[in-house]
Amino acid sequence: MFSRAFLLPFARAAQRIMGRGEGDALPAHGFLTMGSLSDIYSRLPDSIDDLPPPPNSDAVVEADYRARHWVSPAQGPLKPGSDEHKRAIAQMFRDTFNPYKPSVIDWPKLDPETLHRVTSLPIWDIAVQTEGKARLRMAAYARLVQDPDIKDAISRNAWEENRHKEVLSKLVAAYNITMAPEPPYIEPKDVEWAYLVTGFSECVDSFFAFGLFELAKRSEFFPAELIDTFEPVMQEECRHILLFANWLAWYRAVMPWYRRPYFEAKVWAVWAFLGYERLSLAKSVDDKGEVHTQDNNFTVTGAKDIANVQLSLPEFMDLCLAEDDRRFSGYDQRLLRPTTAPAIARVIRDVGRGWEFVSGLIKANRRS
Ligand SMILES: [Fe+2]
Ligand SMILES: [Fe+2]
Repeated sequence: MFSRAFLLPFARAAQRIMGRGEGDALPAHGFLTMGSLSDIYSRLPDSIDDLPPPPNSDAVVEADYRARHWVSPAQGPLKPGSDEHKRAIAQMFRDTFNPYKPSVIDWPKLDPETLHRVTSLPIWDIAVQTEGKARLRMAAYARLVQDPDIKDAISRNAWEENRHKEVLSKLVAAYNITMAPEPPYIEPKDVEWAYLVTGFSECVDSFFAFGLFELAKRSEFFPAELIDTFEPVMQEECRHILLFANWLAWYRAVMPWYRRPYFEAKVWAVWAFLGYERLSLAKSVDDKGEVHTQDNNFTVTGAKDIANVQLSLPEFMDLCLAEDDRRFSGYDQRLLRPTTAPAIARVIRDVGRGWEFVSGLIKANRRS
């Protein structure tokens, strides 16, 4: 689609205009303010360590069901910008909370071949760091928000990102995955920009990850126990992007008209930045001097790495679309769903099908 060279000037300009904080040299205040943000992402709704263990297996099944099914008791439409819509967003996020505890996850023992396949995926550094950035950016945004419902929901989202980081850290330790040292997590200068980057990024990553996860399950790339372990995390990302899509609609609806053009320009700049970022590989060096090359775009391009089943690009897009529908199907239909990643997938699928058709005709003509 877009080349990296094409997007680079837009991304640089966007960074300059919006003053993106992360990735810049560490400012002195970066660590000073960490304390209060870490309070948000580690103490809400409880400390991870304070979560009571589930009393029995029925309670786990029940919590899992509640995390996937939710309907607002409010009657009538949930119009973005209305109090009903705003309260529904926050209530959905609270009610669908899944109280699993990373420290009690029983990591399945993997045979040597599976272990090698899992540990050599080029994603672990970037996955841990993405969760680290997400918890900080969401906590920073939650701190700025005045509205108590939205503040509550985004604070909880930050807390859940912190839990994802914990889950991944436990996995890395359980399977002895060599990691590059984590860079310092820097509080963003433009908090709204950082929140938008994380939110839209999650919308893209989660959409393709849904398909990839299903593919890993079908192809048995991951053993069933590992799939089961990650399933709640995957569904949690679905809730996160449901929250983001509805926050965005609410935010646009309550925004004063004169802020709107600047905000929409910012949204376009975020997409340009994401396009640029996704066309690059991230490199870091661990303490033994080994270079770790990480794929920023693994959720979109990783199908070939995890599938031993033959799947064309249009088929993979169809799988992502079907999984996206399935994961969102249990939530109140009056809440909005993210639309951009599914729209991109439909374009890729249709162009891919068109190409298959044309190349089929060319081959048939050559033969005759
Ligand atoms: Fe996450
Ligand atoms: Fe998330």
